[in-house]
Amino acid sequence: MNLDLAVLDAFRGLTGGDPEGIWRAPGRINLIGEHTDYNDGFVLPFALPQAAYLAASRRDDNRIRIVSVDLGERFETDLADLAPNHDGWHAYLAGVFWALREAGHDVGGADLALASDVPIGAGLSSSAAIECVLVEALNDLYDLGIDPMARAVLARRTENGYVGAPTGLMDQAASMLCTAGHALFLDCRSLSVDQVPLDPGAHGRAILVVDTGTRHSHAGGEYATRRADCEQAARELGVPALRDVAADGLDERLAGLSDERLVRRARHVITENDRVLQACAALRRDDFAALGELMTASHASMRGDYEITEESVDLTVQTALDAGATGARMTGGGFGGCVLVLAPVESLGAITAAVTTAFVDSGRSAPATFVARPSAGAGRLN
Ligand code: GLA
Repeated sequence: MNLDLAVLDAFRGLTGGDPEGIWRAPGRINLIGEHTDYNDGFVLPFALPQAAYLAASRRDDNRIRIVSVDLGERFETDLADLAPNHDGWHAYLAGVFWALREAGHDVGGADLALASDVPIGAGLSSSAAIECVLVEALNDLYDLGIDPMARAVLARRTENGYVGAPTGLMDQAASMLCTAGHALFLDCRSLSVDQVPLDPGAHGRAILVVDTGTRHSHAGGEYATRRADCEQAARELGVPALRDVAADGLDERLAGLSDERLVRRARHVITENDRVLQACAALRRDDFAALGELMTASHASMRGDYEITEESVDLTVQTALDAGATGARMTGGGFGGCVLVLAPVESLGAITAAVTTAFVDSGRSAPATFVARPSAGAGRLN
């Protein structure tokens, strides 16, 4: 069943009536620019067709009632009872009410029915999709007049302040602001954006996503330690953020850092920022060969310097390159999840077969794969 119909049905089951509207907000995949967002740097994600769908109506009694189609569960609370560090699937929704009210927006209760086909824990921003679809719905329903970037910032506030994950802005900005046929260049300091045309199909290429199926349970803790390392490196270098360090003459610039680990962490972030700028330039001249090289270099940097890859993503990248990919890299927070493979369309079959064989031969389950098409950001369906 289409997810818009699924949430309509579930909403009727919850309330006995029709919703005021149905909204959609997508997951994202990051073309390049990993772990740069919380360093005030650059990112280049695009929105996926996979998305969270929400049927919603206002309530006038400050109650929030939610039904999850995917889990077959319900949750109910009062606006007055919302408090940070709440866990469970509903935190990503309850936290949006909290973030909006904390920012001074006059938002009341709601009835909500949610469904999503963004794979969970795969590095495709399933949580940002949920936060963004609700911010979008409440902005419309309560006529809040919040602009799209401020809506993304509020969705991130939910994740940081309510759920308690110290993430950057990339995922929410992508879900909120991406447009079909484009990647979103975002400067995470100025919050300026640029829609960069991304149409690999017009050049005989495709972007294949390989979900390795690996989910690392310590990813949250590792994310926080990487972030702390970057902050320490910036402090030692006397700059507000690693964004402020130029990529040329890097060895010399980083030589004064107190620890070899900090040198590697900083080198990843600084060179990755530079790769994002180069990737934008490559896309603007339709140079997919250069884009592929930058993606592969990004992966090497995440593996060697940032140390956030693991065996299944490294195996996927190497196998895809050996089977004819133009470039390949892990995408998202790390320690598993998905690999993005840029390849000539005619090599997709061989690459998928080679990766599947490599997985099965090494005792893993065959990975899920799909071709990613840059899709639209959050919006109202009806
Ligand atoms: C997660 C976070 C993002 C970003 C990426 C790594 O997806 O939510 O803010 O830091 O990891 O690039």
